[in-house]
Amino acid sequence: MRVLASAPAKIILFGEHSVVYGKPAIAAAIDLRTYVWAEFNENGAIKIEAKDIRVPGLTVSFSEDEIYFESDYGKAAEVLSYVRQAIELVRKEADANGKGITVSITSQIPVGAGLGSSAAVAVATIGAVSRLLGLELSNEEIGKLGHKVELLVQGASSGIDPTVSAIGGFIHYEKGNFEHLPFMELPIVVGYTGSSGSTKELVAMVRGTYEEMPEVIEPVLVAMGKIVEKARDVITSDLDEELRFAQLGRLMNINHGLLDALGVSTKKLSELVYAARVAGAIGAKITGAGGGGCMYALAPENQSEVATAITIAGGTPMITRISREGLRIE
Ligand code: PMV
Repeated sequence: MRVLASAPAKIILFGEHSVVYGKPAIAAAIDLRTYVWAEFNENGAIKIEAKDIRVPGLTVSFSEDEIYFESDYGKAAEVLSYVRQAIELVRKEADANGKGITVSITSQIPVGAGLGSSAAVAVATIGAVSRLLGLELSNEEIGKLGHKVELLVQGASSGIDPTVSAIGGFIHYEKGNFEHLPFMELPIVVGYTGSSGSTKELVAMVRGTYEEMPEVIEPVLVAMGKIVEKARDVITSDLDEELRFAQLGRLMNINHGLLDALGVSTKKLSELVYAARVAGAIGAKITGAGGGGCMYALAPENQSEVATAITIAGGTPMITRISREGLRIE
C-alpha cells in the first residue's frame, strides 16, 4: 500500500509576527504544492527520500543516509527534521512506534522563502502517514498536529502556517482558532528575494526587542492587529471590487511599514516592495517572517508590469492563485 498526499504553500496577507503575540492574522493557501508518498518498509526504520527541495540557489536531493548539497546544508537538514518529527508524532498517535515507514517527497515550494514550505511538508507527511496507519483525522486535526511539529522543531510558532496549509482557502486566525473568509480571487504577484530568512531567528529577534522596550513595541503589535481586523471588514464587506482592493492595498503598505519598524525587512525586500509600488501595485509588503524570503504585491490592473519590475529589481516574480484546497489525499 502506498498513500500520496499533497499540501499547499501559503502567504500571510496581514499580521505576521504580531500573530505570535496572540493578535489575529489573515493567510491564504496558494497553488504551489508539496507531495508526499508514504509506504511501509520491512526493517522498522524511518526512511526519508526527497528530491527537488529548492533551497535558494540550488536543488538539494537527499535520502535518510545521504545528503547531497552544494551549499546551505542547514536548510536541507531542517526539512528533514520536520518530516521526521511528523512521522514520529503520527506513529505515536496511531500506537505504531517501531513500524517501518518510508516517505518520498517532491516539492514545488522553495525552502526558506516564507511560503510555508516546512508547514506544507509537515502537513502532507502527517496526511499520508496517518492514512497509511489507518487513522481517521480531519484536515483541522492534521493542522493541529502540524503545529505540534513546528513547536518541536522551531520552539515558537503561532500555528497559522500548518492550519492554512491543512484547510486551504482564506483564513482569519487568532490564538489557534480559525475562521474561513469568503473566497476571492486576489490579483497578486509574489516576489522572491532569492535568499532565505530563518523564521526561528527572526521571531527571537522581535521577542528580544519586545522584552527590551515593551512600551514601544506593544503599540506596534496592537496596530498590526487593528490592520487585520480592518482588512477582515473590507474582505467581508459588500464594497465594489475596486474600492476593496484600494483599501486592502493601503492596509498592506501600512503593515509593511510596521514590519520594517520591527526590523524584519532587508534592503532587497524593501527594493522589491518599492519597485512593485512604482510599477503600479496598489499595495506591497513582506509576507512571512522577513529577513529575505518573499514580498507580495496587489496589482489588479498590471500584474505583468509589476512582475517585470520585480525582475528588474533583482527578484523572482511568481504569479500565483489562491488555492481553495488544503491537504488532499491524492
Ligand atoms: O516564515 P513564515 O512564512 O513561515 O512566517 C511565519 C510567520 C510568523 O508570524 C513570523 C511566525 C509564526 O509562527 O506565526
